[in-house]
Amino acid sequence: MEKAIQVKGLQKSFKQLHVLNGVDFEVEQGSVFALLGSNGAGKTTIVKILTTLLKQDGGTAVVNGFDVALKPDNVRQSISLTGQFAAVDEILTGLENLIMIAKLRHLKNPGVVTDNLLKRFGLTDAADRRVSTYSGGMHRRLDIAMSLVGTPELIFLDEPTNGLDPEARIEVWKIVKELADSGTTVFLTTQYLEEAEQLADQIAILHKGRIIANGTLAELKKLIPPAKVEYVEKQPTLEEIFLAVIGKKEEK
Ligand SMILES: Nc1ncnc2c1ncn2[C@@H]1O[C@H](COP(=O)(O)OP(=O)(O)OP(=O)(O)O)[C@@H](O)[C@H]1O
Ligand SMILES: [Mg+2]
Repeated sequence: MEKAIQVKGLQKSFKQLHVLNGVDFEVEQGSVFALLGSNGAGKTTIVKILTTLLKQDGGTAVVNGFDVALKPDNVRQSISLTGQFAAVDEILTGLENLIMIAKLRHLKNPGVVTDNLLKRFGLTDAADRRVSTYSGGMHRRLDIAMSLVGTPELIFLDEPTNGLDPEARIEVWKIVKELADSGTTVFLTTQYLEEAEQLADQIAILHKGRIIANGTLAELKKLIPPAKVEYVEKQPTLEEIFLAVIGKKEEK
């Protein structure tokens, strides 16, 4: 089995609103796939169908070899999801949230796994604080850490860096790259095109209910006529300035 995801002719409507109108794409095992699209294009709808939270009206979706409509339990066991909106429990501490997931996943050594994740996501000092006192970025990091408990083979990240500051965003990018290097398949949606450029092996653009472009960055660049050569002074981006001023070098 080489494909982590195979989607054919996927359709979904909400009453009169046809959101997905025959969506086709495939994701290679161990790759990073980025789904781009404007607000309301249907990205989260696709994520929900692939993670069995929503049923499609037509077409098929096979995830890790299991049809989402016929074998939803098998699909759920082989994936994890970090949704667009944080799914952490506000009353619990960061550590308690992680332990809860580790227990749900029947891990033998939850303490070791959660300690490693807290360290990796820079949450060790905040581990024993209630999540309701966390900043937006800390929430997001905990949310992603929770989806890594039990090392799933396929992870869905719906706008993982939405609302994060540039430093935290680069941290999440590093984590996604590490995941990909360790063989995990990553399906992500994003509004930040630079994020897709940085991370994705394959990029698909969802527009008006269909995938209108799909390929590597190099392939997508060929769709546009070659740029004419101009000589301009390279100015730093605001992101580079921000990171320089707060004393962090961008790691890419
Ligand atoms: N449960 C629902 N009932 C009715 N309409 C819905 C429902 N869920 C989504 N929609 C509509 O379907 C369309 C696609 O929504 P979706 O959340 O998939 O978009 P998205 O690409 O994830 O957008 P964003 O970038 O804002 O997250 C939107 O017009 C939305 O209003
Ligand atoms: Mg969405």
